[in-house]
Amino acid sequence: MLIRQENSTDYNKVYDVVKKAFESAEHSDGNEQDLVVALRNSTAFIPELALVAEINNQIVGHLMFTKIQIGSNIELALAPLSVLPEYQRQGIGTALMAEGHKIAKEKGFNYSVVLGSEFYYPKVGYVPAEKFGIKAPFDVPTENLMVLNLQGKDIQISGTVEYPKKFGI
Ligand SMILES: CC(C)(COP(=O)(O)OP(=O)(O)OC[C@H]1O[C@@H](n2cnc3c(N)ncnc32)[C@H](O)[C@@H]1OP(=O)(O)O)[C@@H](O)C(=O)NCCC(=O)NCCS
Repeated sequence: MLIRQENSTDYNKVYDVVKKAFESAEHSDGNEQDLVVALRNSTAFIPELALVAEINNQIVGHLMFTKIQIGSNIELALAPLSVLPEYQRQGIGTALMAEGHKIAKEKGFNYSVVLGSEFYYPKVGYVPAEKFGIKAPFDVPTENLMVLNLQGKDIQISGTVEYPKKFGI
């Protein structure tokens, strides 16, 4: 498996991968593939943090981190994460996140925030955001908003997450 930055020739394939991944997802609004396009065209986009997973030259997974604001800090939102149904539960999502977290750390970000399964993201180190005093700008079960401390430093941060407008939140 190869994890690499996406490029413009991947965009159509990425669109299909995201669409197919979320067709069978527990939580989906059916628009995740369009969210990827919108985020790419937004100021929140970070090209180095839009990644694809390739097996035999075929794109089987995709992950994006985009900029969010928490208080006066610019941090990251992990979303969306997509793996083709027939390739799920083989470690591809974990590998995409590991590479993304490494790049995010190198780029100096302190925290990655995710809204998602409280059974999945803790496997790679995410903890409930409420431990840091980080809140969602909408009603969400507290266990579903999670944070990863990328640098492992005790950097004080708290406040309500401001998502890019393209999230429609
Ligand atoms: C969620 C998703 C990205 C996981 O990718 P994946 O490549 O299948 O995940 P991995 O193989 O790396 O799984 C790692 C671990 O999480 C578990 N896991 C996988 N999907 C899970 C899910 N939906 N809920 C709970 N646990 C899950 C696996 O069993 C595995 O645990 P283990 O190592 O203890 O056996 C993938 O299932 C997917 O694309 N789902 C549809 C889209 C979606 O829901 N995305 C997330 C919301 S943004």
